[in-house]
Amino acid sequence: MAEQPIGTLWGVSAGPGDPELLTLKAARLLQTCPVVAFPAGRQGQPGVAQTIIQPLLSSHQIQLPLAFPFVQDPGTLAAAWELAAGAVWAHLKTGQDVVFATEGDASFYSTFTYLAHTLQNHHPEAQVATVPGVCSPLAAAAQLGMPLTILQQRLLVLPALYAIADLEAALDQADVVVLMKVASVYADVWKILQRRDLLAQSRVIVRATQADEQIYLDLRDRPDLDLPYFSLMIIDCDRASSAPQATQRPDFRLG
Ligand SMILES: C[S@@+](CC[C@H](N)C(=O)[O-])C[C@H]1O[C@@H](n2cnc3c(N)ncnc32)[C@H](O)[C@@H]1O
Repeated sequence: MAEQPIGTLWGVSAGPGDPELLTLKAARLLQTCPVVAFPAGRQGQPGVAQTIIQPLLSSHQIQLPLAFPFVQDPGTLAAAWELAAGAVWAHLKTGQDVVFATEGDASFYSTFTYLAHTLQNHHPEAQVATVPGVCSPLAAAAQLGMPLTILQQRLLVLPALYAIADLEAALDQADVVVLMKVASVYADVWKILQRRDLLAQSRVIVRATQADEQIYLDLRDRPDLDLPYFSLMIIDCDRASSAPQATQRPDFRLG
């Protein structure tokens, strides 16, 4: 008897918020895969990826919210990835493809990486494919009306700031620094940027491309911004560059 073919797990990039930033390939897979997984929302609210993709889904598709706790503890995280990988495998092993939608790009600091890794650890035969998309620093630059980098500029992305020394080193080495997950360390970052006289060329963008996006173009008067998780900072350390400055557009909501 022929063996049951195994389905593919697709990691699909849902982009930073604006549904028009989904790729055509992502949209096709989201509309045609029998099973659509996504990170479960918190406190009864749908997650970002879920909100982006919801209009594309139809009632005959199975929706699979997967819980990924918002903690640092490696044991808790590993247990969540195990559960999620098990839920995905239950469909793959019957031959169903599963599309996992993740906010931003699926290869850029994404939960998808851990899900795929855990799945393949247990089931090396599982097929995994990734559909690239728009990651948040690129979306932020576009919303700011500025290039992220030009010419020979060196870009350094810090995924999170666990030690302030990391930021000092980044500012020494790079021409443009992107700080992901800046919300919890904003006050400390502000002091360092003030000392280095970099506040005027530092910008924060909150929920880039989403309906409630916020932009802060000059941080000199903002030592204590209260930012949500979906915030990032772009620091232009390259004073000598001829990089065009962010252009202020009429629809910018300045906080
Ligand atoms: C775990 S990372 C996920 C990155 C995502 N995979 C991407 O491609 O952008 C989460 C961090 O990304 C940043 N981020 C993601 N989406 C964002 C958005 N729409 N606006 C601003 N920052 C965002 C924030 O710094 C947030 O703390």
